Amino acid sequence: MNVSIVGTGYVGLTTGALLAAAGNKVYCIDIDSTKIKKIKNGTAPFYEPYLDKFIKEGLKHKNLIPTTSYREAIPKSEIALICVGTPSKGDGSVDLTYINQAVRTIGKHMKNDLVLVQKSTVPVGTGRKIERILKNGNRKDRFHVTSCPEFLSEGSAILDTLNISRLVIGGDSKKAKDAVIRLFKSLDEYSKKVDLQKFSKYANIYRKSTKDFNKTPYEDRVLSVSLESAELIKVTANAFLTMKISFANSIARICDKVGADINEVMEGIGMDDRIGKSFLHAGLGWGGGCFPKDAAGLIYSSEEVGFDFKLLKAVVDINNSQILYFVRKVQEIFNGKLEGKTITILGLSFKPGTSDVRISPAIKLVNNLARRQAKVKVYDPEAMNEAKTEIFESVYFSSSTDDALKNSDLAILTTDWPEFVDLDFKKVKSKFETPNLLDGRNKWPKEKVTKLGYNYHGIGR
Ligand code: UGA
Repeated sequence: MNVSIVGTGYVGLTTGALLAAAGNKVYCIDIDSTKIKKIKNGTAPFYEPYLDKFIKEGLKHKNLIPTTSYREAIPKSEIALICVGTPSKGDGSVDLTYINQAVRTIGKHMKNDLVLVQKSTVPVGTGRKIERILKNGNRKDRFHVTSCPEFLSEGSAILDTLNISRLVIGGDSKKAKDAVIRLFKSLDEYSKKVDLQKFSKYANIYRKSTKDFNKTPYEDRVLSVSLESAELIKVTANAFLTMKISFANSIARICDKVGADINEVMEGIGMDDRIGKSFLHAGLGWGGGCFPKDAAGLIYSSEEVGFDFKLLKAVVDINNSQILYFVRKVQEIFNGKLEGKTITILGLSFKPGTSDVRISPAIKLVNNLARRQAKVKVYDPEAMNEAKTEIFESVYFSSSTDDALKNSDLAILTTDWPEFVDLDFKKVKSKFETPNLLDGRNKWPKEKVTKLGYNYHGIGR
């Protein structure tokens, strides 16, 4: 099929590169010419494992056409996917400026019967607004608005796009929905020809093992619903996941008081398949470009319809207080005196497998400790550049993990990158001034490191 995708972020570019690999002709449109130039040169404007390889292949086979021109792309496309950013405004509401701009420009260039697929995360009701914008554009052409929310996670975007958990498709027109179902079936067919295991490195970090690829037939993973339901499914899924994490973090605080181990407690409840094992990992809390914005957006939309979403507000409050809870742990380790202590921060991205530092719990912790006059040294395998503008000037940017650990009084695991989780504790111990460990992701082997002479601190362990 001939497809246009507007927006070259994690969702747009991954979907575009993979749809191209699956044999479709894909125009990836972005108004940012610097991004398009990078993509034309074969690299994504952000770090996502394996994505560059698919971009290069798409360019080589001329199936992937990066462009800043709607005029070049839209008239040739049967389907147009909107994958632009929907940032949060100060009051929690969602800023739809980029969506509105994209829809107006698509409207100017579209041909009859264009199927518009809304993939950006938006408040419920946005699809109907899009229909109004297109109608008011004074065009006689027919068009069909659908909503097909995205569920991929950064770091495992390739696997999640090829091996979708479900295809939720909302809209009024069966014909339009069928076209979208057909488009994504091409990805499913392509996925059977590649070794999916290869793309799963960061997929299993917070989820149960994803070894059983493609077990459920594609058709059984398709859910056809109304436009409004599709929009609400997306934000509800994210809200539910944040609730699971904040729940685990709350129980972890009880564990800290009563001597139970949160990892054991969550393992124990997760064995009940009504609860499930995924997203119950206690730690520094949740961040990123999606969860915080989507939780705030759903609280805002609820208020608009007269519902006070107290449960979700509590989920957010618990997460916001998580950093201070860790700062208190650091203070306890140093008997209240942080000034002059050398603290190593391992990880800056909001989670492993990405260079994304948006609302990263690690960055919040770094700045809080730096404000308290600690000597903070940071290291991250991918996010050093991205973090530079977010972090206090006094913070030292280390050249490697070893450099970050030199003369350290405390190392904190802030992002569970495999290379930090699997540190050679025996080897690196001599680098420490005082061998204190604070495990912000509950991933370090408590017993082993204690035997090696470290003072281990976690959350709820
Ligand atoms: C999230 C959702 O998981 C995706 O399904 C969704 O498509 C995406 O948002 C989106 O809306 O675009 P993502 O933001 O990439 O994906 O990251 P997650 O893997 O969900 O992690 C989010 C945060 O929660 C991270 O800071 C992570 O460290 C934290 N987390 C996750 C925990 O603290 N504990 C857990 O058990 C799981």
